[in-house]
Amino acid sequence: MKKFIKKILPEPLAKLYWLFKVARIKFITWIPKYNEDELITGHNADFMKDERFMSAYNSAVKAGLAISDKIHWRAHTICWAALRASQLEGDFVEVGVAKGFLSKVIVDYLNFKELSKNFFLLDTFEGFIEKYFTESEKKNGRKGGNYLNSASYEQVRETFRDYKNVKIIKGIVPDILSRVDFSKIAYLHIDMNCTIPEILAAEYFWDKMVSGAIMILDDYGHSGHEEQKYAFDEFAKRKNVSILSLPTGQGLIIKP
Ligand SMILES: C[S@@+](CC[C@H](N)C(=O)[O-])C[C@H]1O[C@@H](n2cnc3c(N)ncnc32)[C@H](O)[C@@H]1O
Repeated sequence: MKKFIKKILPEPLAKLYWLFKVARIKFITWIPKYNEDELITGHNADFMKDERFMSAYNSAVKAGLAISDKIHWRAHTICWAALRASQLEGDFVEVGVAKGFLSKVIVDYLNFKELSKNFFLLDTFEGFIEKYFTESEKKNGRKGGNYLNSASYEQVRETFRDYKNVKIIKGIVPDILSRVDFSKIAYLHIDMNCTIPEILAAEYFWDKMVSGAIMILDDYGHSGHEEQKYAFDEFAKRKNVSILSLPTGQGLIIKP
């Protein structure tokens, strides 16, 4: 490219062109349009001005549910997926709920109580389960027990008390899955930060997911979560689908 520019432009203009290009990149990193959650970009982030989205997001932040209140782009992905899934047949599921931040954003964003769907929220509500860590997760110091930002079952029930169609399920994934009466699934959000329960949940729900249903993997591209990524790459191969790797760190799969 540099050679080509030199060929078509006389020397001072070619230099000016490159100076402009470098300055533009510098400008984007000095004054980005979005700079949160390890994502800095000059790309358009107009969802930050969308009233419906921001009102749902801010209300969940205000309720004290956020692990980090600076994950707008991840929440934007989630809302896009949820809106699309709301037009399909089937229920919503989140495995790995903590205080229910992203799910609360969704229920407000979609006014979920008006939908004839259920939203199942599954968590131990007591943190991580040691027996479901892989050897390398254990080696990296992962410990079972309470998660810094987890909430009790009662707290999460209280958060969603106005939503009769949001079902809070306390239990260990995967052990609890066969005890819940799931039928068709349109939306699946997987966010347990550990490999084995995530893959087992994905396998369990895959056949229940309707055509066009969306699976979002919260940790897919995040550094320190490579084992989850490689396990999901294998999962995708087995299912003959591909995972869209998003700059937010999320992964997105659409069920064929
Ligand atoms: C990162 S947090 C979830 C964050 C949440 N999605 C949000 O919107 O804030 C991970 C959660 O996964 C739960 N978890 C981890 N392993 C689990 C398992 N095997 N079964 C059920 N829940 C589990 C933890 O208790 C924790 O609350």
